[in-house]
Amino acid sequence: MYTFRDYYRNQVKLSFEDHPFSREPKHVWVICRYKDKWLLTKHKDRGLEFPGGKVEDGEHAQDAAVREVMEETGGEIKSIRYVGQYFVNGKGGTIIKNVYFSEIAELIEQDNYYETEGPVQLETIPANVKQNQNYSFIMKDDVLTHCLRVVTKEYSKK
Ligand code: GTP
Repeated sequence: MYTFRDYYRNQVKLSFEDHPFSREPKHVWVICRYKDKWLLTKHKDRGLEFPGGKVEDGEHAQDAAVREVMEETGGEIKSIRYVGQYFVNGKGGTIIKNVYFSEIAELIEQDNYYETEGPVQLETIPANVKQNQNYSFIMKDDVLTHCLRVVTKEYSKK
């Protein structure tokens, strides 16, 4: 278990165990790879981030992950797996989010990317992401660093 502060100084707990905080988390976040690049979305207010969002009533978290990737990037999923879960003790309450790693088969252009401007493909995530104003606050804490380390180890084995 890792414990640290986020961009807003809220406490975050991150674990790579099997659903340590909740079996039914209400949020999902998906680290995506498409054709040897990272696939992100550009949120209209927050900036660049991996796609994700809220789990709808009655929806399974992984189905929400698949849906959010399509809505925010047009990415059709080839494979998806659970990576870990984090807990944020925010000012307005706590949130629990599942992190997934997904390989994308295809990008299908959408008419509407919801609250985002659609897909953004990147060769690398810049080292200065924490200081870079183009990036969303959700990319600015150690959730990203730890999760990228874990998923990079996995796909580089293939
Ligand atoms: P909307 O209801 O979609 O407008 O979003 P919201 O910001 O009101 O609510 P949400 O439940 O998505 O998030 C509540 C708060 O939790 C945010 O304002 C953040 O402080 C925090 N939060 C949400 N997602 C993350 C995340 O991925 N990382 C971190 N560090 N904090 C998050």
